Amino acid sequence: MKKFLASSLLSADFLHLEEVIHFTEKAGVDLLHLDIMDGHYVPNLTFGPPLISQIRNITNLPLDVHLMITNPEETIDTYCEAGASMISVHPETTKHLHRLISYIKKKNIKAGAVLNPATPLSMLEDILCELDYVLLMSVNPGFGGQSFIPQVRKKVDRFIKIRKILGCEQVKLEIDGGVNLENIGDLSRAGVEIFVVGSAIYHSDDPEATIQKMKRVL
Ligand code: DX5
Ligand code: ZN
Repeated sequence: MKKFLASSLLSADFLHLEEVIHFTEKAGVDLLHLDIMDGHYVPNLTFGPPLISQIRNITNLPLDVHLMITNPEETIDTYCEAGASMISVHPETTKHLHRLISYIKKKNIKAGAVLNPATPLSMLEDILCELDYVLLMSVNPGFGGQSFIPQVRKKVDRFIKIRKILGCEQVKLEIDGGVNLENIGDLSRAGVEIFVVGSAIYHSDDPEATIQKMKRVL
């Protein structure tokens, strides 16, 4: 099973973003993870579709867009048009999750649902097989640089079991928050397929070497 390393630009140096994206791509990252925060759903603000389109123009890497915004159905077109390759939404931010997921997939963009640390897996039972991926948050959404919440490790095991019982093993598992060189190997062996890493890459002494080390572990 191929594993994907997704670097989160949230912890990157925004004043040198082009340079960062180029060395990230060269070092062997598989996806760029873009955290969209609106200051309502989460207590932080980041960036939106105009920056996504600019990033789309300077890299061939797939763009993994993580929407932490309320009522994403109202602005979803702008993210699709900006060049997202994958879009994930938090179920509690939209009234009609099934409608939104179907809409994203119709645009030929991979669609995912995100569960916060306290949100149970059962929330997705009736839609799981229609998702392209599930993103398990291993920190509370809003900020980079937080520690991995240990209870989420067991949730990973439960997800792998439930995915099998429901017969939808094609639905990929992504993890986001507090992933680093110490825990990435264990998470990979547990069955996680996509790893979002922000501060452990961009706040390390040598981000390129860290990317390469992580790729070797996967
Ligand atoms: C948090 C974001 C994450 C964050 C991860 O809300 O969804 O993608 O950037 O950063 P680290 O790897 O530092 O926990
Ligand atoms: Zn994220």
